[in-house]
Amino acid sequence: MSANFRSDNESPVAQPVWAALERANRGTAHAYAEDEWSRRLDGAFGELFGTEVSVLPVATGTVANAIALAATTPPWGSVYCHDQSHVYRDESGAPEFFGNGLRLVPVGGPDGKIGAAELAEALHDAEGHGVHSYAPAALTVTQSTESGSVYSPGELSELCEMARCRGMATHLDGARFANAVASLGCDPADISWRAGIEMLSFGAAKNGCVAAEALVFFERRELLETAERLRKRSGHLLSKMRYVSAQLLAYLEDGLWLELAAHANRQAARFAAAVENHPEARLEFPVQANEVFVRWSPEGLGLIANRDIEFNHWPGHDDLARFVFAHSTTDAETQALITAMET
Ligand SMILES: Cc1ncc(COP(=O)(O)O)c(C=O)c1O
Repeated sequence: MSANFRSDNESPVAQPVWAALERANRGTAHAYAEDEWSRRLDGAFGELFGTEVSVLPVATGTVANAIALAATTPPWGSVYCHDQSHVYRDESGAPEFFGNGLRLVPVGGPDGKIGAAELAEALHDAEGHGVHSYAPAALTVTQSTESGSVYSPGELSELCEMARCRGMATHLDGARFANAVASLGCDPADISWRAGIEMLSFGAAKNGCVAAEALVFFERRELLETAERLRKRSGHLLSKMRYVSAQLLAYLEDGLWLELAAHANRQAARFAAAVENHPEARLEFPVQANEVFVRWSPEGLGLIANRDIEFNHWPGHDDLARFVFAHSTTDAETQALITAMET
């Protein structure tokens, strides 16, 4: 059977979200996020996180990240991020564009996670040159990471504390936040505001929605007006925002977001176990969410591709592939992948 493990972005919309869109599609509603669905977002997310929040619905993760970073960073400021992060590698310079030239500073660390020692060194490197150098203004961390690993609450707290004591803002790229919460089995607050995260790009499109993400401000809520201006100036204040907000509300209802993510994680874990038992293929990173990176010979990976199974080779590597599992991945699809690898 054919199956697609290229990206969770290629998954369909979850049925309850689709049904919510149908329900929202009746009659007129005020435009530009002044509709009844958008007005309920602060309350719904506040309840989820157990604290007061301000929420901006947007259509893409890229714009959520860029608005958060540009709102907190002056053009002469720098944003610290992992050297494999989406903001650094895959957003075509959007944070720099929105931030009028702000600088992204890549930081290393194993398994796609910023290391505390590496961050300390990078921050130390920026000291002592006054107005001649960029001013460290923000830290952005991805959870779950682009490598499919997950920060523990303690790891996040340590990084946030290092940023906070230097007066830097803290942002979490949560394109796959749901997969991280499902993996850790923690309270969403434990890997966001309680760990010191001030702003969160809460992803939903990869996990059952269509063009719906929420930029959540825990602290720095005074930046909301700046963020709203950036959203409008960039053409991201959708007139028909009710369709974005209705999805986000349905996504949160009755824990749907976690249920969908837990399913994706389980499929990934099943495949990871098969890779671990394989005589030649091996896991490149710990599998803690819904992405599995497999190191295998080009011929070995070719065996999978020949079985009509789609996946992505990691750019620049013909012996490294990424398999992404989604809320919609079926047992039969995962089995087809495992079988293709074993025969
Ligand atoms: C970690 C991460 N952050 C942000 C994004 C951006 O999402 P979008 O494609 O909606 O702009 C992605 C998308 O793949 C991602 O993987």
